[in-house]
Amino acid sequence: MALLEAKNLGISFGGLRAVDDFNIKIEKGSLYGLIGPNGAGKTTVFNLLTGVYKPTEGIITLDGKDVTGKKTIEINQAGIARTFQNIRLFKDLSVIDNVKVGLHNHMSYSTVTGILRLPKYYKVEKQMTEEAMELLKVFGLEEEAETLADNLPYGKQRKLEIARALATKPKLLLLDEPAAGMNPNETLELMETIRFVREHFDMTILLIEHDMKLVGGICEELTVLNFGRVLCQGKTSDVLNNPEVIKAYLGE
Ligand SMILES: Nc1ncnc2c1ncn2[C@@H]1O[C@H](COP(=O)(O)OP(=O)(O)OP(=O)(O)O)[C@@H](O)[C@H]1O
Ligand SMILES: [Mg+2]
Repeated sequence: MALLEAKNLGISFGGLRAVDDFNIKIEKGSLYGLIGPNGAGKTTVFNLLTGVYKPTEGIITLDGKDVTGKKTIEINQAGIARTFQNIRLFKDLSVIDNVKVGLHNHMSYSTVTGILRLPKYYKVEKQMTEEAMELLKVFGLEEEAETLADNLPYGKQRKLEIARALATKPKLLLLDEPAAGMNPNETLELMETIRFVREHFDMTILLIEHDMKLVGGICEELTVLNFGRVLCQGKTSDVLNNPEVIKAYLGE
């Protein structure tokens, strides 16, 4: 059984058919790429999968459970976490506190315990600090743990977003153009980190990227969207050699 399956997903904005008859199956443990030109509908697919938009048609299942039309928080709790095309961090919180926000998804204490600083508060806080530091180490951010998120350099903010998403302990991680705005060296380093995250956390990842070479280099499977519809889908090598993809995507 696929970890994520979407069948016949569709949504319109006014007269615009942003996503039409979208189907995808993502097996557990895979690193899967979603590519396509500007405005093809990639981010809209993420918004449908995470409950930001309700699909007009179609079904989404995660681990065999129907999550279609559920709220974003319910979908996150069911096991889908994401990052955004435009970074959305808690800019006034420290780096480590951003990660702890994600950890609260599965580690918590009651309000009373928090206000009265009961023993459980200290126990959970200590555990959260340890887990958050472990995650920050994966992304080379441990020395900036107390830095305000807003003061991090751009490339590190992108990494912190991924760390925070992972802190929710998802089954599926959705990354929307995580390398956007990065220089080539930062991009290569990030791709290595994504590979590492997949291995280390045994994570399933769906990655949106513009750069064909980039996704081709790390993803085993690809879906190409064009004008809201799937143009081509399958093994990376087959997709990248498909003449229709070359024509539509590279304009050749
Ligand atoms: N909330 C909305 N209201 C109206 N139109 C929208 C909305 N969200 C997306 N669209 C439109 O749907 C289409 C697909 O947009 P989407 O952001 O999903 O594309 P994308 O493939 O992520 O593009 P990019 O590569 O530029 O990020 C675009 O024409 C966009 O303008
Ligand atoms: Mg987008």
